[in-house]
Amino acid sequence: MDGAYLLGAVVGEVVGGVRDLRAALRRQRAGSADLVRAARMLGSARGRLAVRTAVRRRSVDARDLPAAGPDRARTPGLVVGAEPEPGGGVVRFSRAELRVRVAAGGAVFCGWDGAVPLPSYALAGDCPEADPRAQLEPDGAGWRVVSERITVRISAQGAVEFRTPGGLLLRTEGPPTWRDAASPAEGRAPGWEQRARLPADARVFGLGGRASGPALRTGRYRLWNTDPGGAFRPGDDPLSLTMPVQLVVADAGCHLAFQDNTWDGEVALWEGREGAGSGPDQPGICRLRMEGGPLRYWVIAGTPARVLSGWTALTGRPALPPRWALGHHHSRWGFGSQQEVRRVAAGYREHGLPLSVLHLDIDHFDGHRVFTADPRTFPDLPGLAEELAGHGVRLVSIVDPAVKAEPGLATYDGGAAARAFVRDARGREIRGAVWPGECVFPDFTDPAARAWWGAQYRERLDRGFAGFWHDMNEPVSFAAFGDPTLPLSARHALEGRGGDHREAHNVYALEMARAGYQGLRELRPQQRPFLFSRSGWAGMQRYGGTWSGDVATGWEGLRASLALVLGMGLCGVPYSGPDVGGFSGVPSPELYLRWFQLGAYLPLFRTHSAIGAGRREPWEFGPEVLGHARAALEERMRLLPYLETLAHVAHRTGAPYVRPLWWKSPGDRALRECADAFLLGDALLVAPVLEEGATSRQVRLPRGKWHDTATGRAYPGRTTVRLDAPLGRIPVLARAGAVLPVTGADGRVELEAWAPRTGRGGGGEVVVGDPEGWTAPRRERFVSRWEKGRVVVEREGGGEVGYEVRVRAAEA
Ligand code: NOJ
Repeated sequence: MDGAYLLGAVVGEVVGGVRDLRAALRRQRAGSADLVRAARMLGSARGRLAVRTAVRRRSVDARDLPAAGPDRARTPGLVVGAEPEPGGGVVRFSRAELRVRVAAGGAVFCGWDGAVPLPSYALAGDCPEADPRAQLEPDGAGWRVVSERITVRISAQGAVEFRTPGGLLLRTEGPPTWRDAASPAEGRAPGWEQRARLPADARVFGLGGRASGPALRTGRYRLWNTDPGGAFRPGDDPLSLTMPVQLVVADAGCHLAFQDNTWDGEVALWEGREGAGSGPDQPGICRLRMEGGPLRYWVIAGTPARVLSGWTALTGRPALPPRWALGHHHSRWGFGSQQEVRRVAAGYREHGLPLSVLHLDIDHFDGHRVFTADPRTFPDLPGLAEELAGHGVRLVSIVDPAVKAEPGLATYDGGAAARAFVRDARGREIRGAVWPGECVFPDFTDPAARAWWGAQYRERLDRGFAGFWHDMNEPVSFAAFGDPTLPLSARHALEGRGGDHREAHNVYALEMARAGYQGLRELRPQQRPFLFSRSGWAGMQRYGGTWSGDVATGWEGLRASLALVLGMGLCGVPYSGPDVGGFSGVPSPELYLRWFQLGAYLPLFRTHSAIGAGRREPWEFGPEVLGHARAALEERMRLLPYLETLAHVAHRTGAPYVRPLWWKSPGDRALRECADAFLLGDALLVAPVLEEGATSRQVRLPRGKWHDTATGRAYPGRTTVRLDAPLGRIPVLARAGAVLPVTGADGRVELEAWAPRTGRGGGGEVVVGDPEGWTAPRRERFVSRWEKGRVVVEREGGGEVGYEVRVRAAEA
């Protein structure tokens, strides 16, 4: 195609599709920049490909997507009867029916119009058994199901109320409204809408990774995994990893609501009337609109810990990262050569900075082709990996799903032979544009394609890589205008059921992670897979973690980093972290250091930046920053046994390492508002500096008593205190009575015991596990108490403590 043709095509498409384009532009908030972008793109080969891809995407969808049918609204009508079933039953209305089933463990399933829990991409395995004690009973004009943790009341009109066993209202789902197409032939998937009312004081968290969190304010949140197309800021939504999971905290209690539906949708939160919402930007009503798919959801209630445990029992416990993944990672897009990677690793050693992992981005591929290496710039990856391993440093490889459409290329030929790539309705491979040029995309919803893809990791293992970083898997296909992804009409296997990209899009990355994870389990069965992924969906934690994507360098990006990690943890994905220093541009030395200090307390501690962005090595910011960064790194390594314990706790219970301050006090309204501090496990409270120039900061403390770990000074809980935060450190407090494992000066694990409150005890857990393999870990519990003016630590259940114990703040 020449430039004139392309320009003509763009103009034609824009004129012909003004309405669609407007909607797309509104959604992406790209405004007229999209057109400018399209025109500018004509100047480069990649740009012309992006224009061609956008044009093609539009015409394939115009040809293959079912035409919109007439909108006809339907509501359930009035109740007409009910039939009991194990765990609940089916309530029939004149125009719809609702199945309510309480599962063993307490999660409640609600499915309208015959929707059942399976098949589901979110659920980890079989659907949990019904709780036989929960039964459907008449309740006035409606029905109810009483269970141990939740009472569900179904009104005669189809509203569903969820209450605590004590009768407090957690959530009311109004009767749904369906937008029905008159017949399937008239096309348009039947979408639906449901409005929930939340208690007046409720705060909503979750919906995947949201830069504006952690508490979600009034506004609209799209459920469609999207590459923001450059560095994002707090106002940008959606991002790469969305999921229809809300964690709601209110005085009445805490609950999680999960809509098990992978289609495009939108959650709108707004202030309710009748006193709901305690402030102008606090939600009281939550409206969910889905473009299609079943109306089925789960509600899990209880303490935050119980809710996360119930949620990860349903969708899978978080994968346990290898120990080395808890150290410091250094990455950059554009190392450019093996020599440069060596130079950076040597720099860490020369400056006395511990380093665990180096990441290679797409520039190490041959022409950006996945599962290759550039023979000129990275001629000997196994040699590099071995040399780095000698210094205790692992290599992680980026893996993008798009495969260059190039006959003769092994990955392309193999995938084409396995019929692994996504096709259009006529059976032709869908072509898109990503870094290598024109690409095809594996259909990860096809078990055979997953098996083929998983086997490709052999090439990476043979080159010496220890872990994997999945990127561009929303999936992205560069487009000069419109949604930068595959055509909505693209066909997917969906485990043999068949369907299109509207249903498969949001689980594309989840199933890519599954393919990678399963492949690695087969290729390297003795080692736990390590992978993390930019995009994903509910259940992602079974396979690995995530990172915050291309967060913009700036103080607001730093704040968004914490919001993203907290939000993901409350959605069940505990292992994550931001690009320390931000993805784009050049951070000031102060900003870089504050980011580094925060990162040192997050599960994934990784510096990363874009090609062309400033350097991110700690020694690039002057001697003062270097000294402080070293202190942060050393503290990270000192806390490694504690982080490992938290990784095991997350794996066993679903409790995230990084928790909101209200984790143990969900009833404390002041804590629910806190967006700038967090708990690291049970023992520590971290209060990062997120403001430029700040050398002290306030923090609201949860109940109990807290010791400033730098000064030992004690502060009573439920107070707001101002703490020193000089450039050299961020405030970290320890819970009085906490016992945590740390690395001692001799490199051995020892116990750090913080003096309990007078007359009270304390304690903590230590989990020592297999660093990389599958051997079951050893769990140990210790208790602490005062005895004759001294703090003593004992092994729970008796026996030798077996560790050196350092008591801290016994005088405070
Ligand atoms: C986008 C990712 O978010 C970023 O981290 C990476 O450096 C680039 N893709 C290049 O691979």
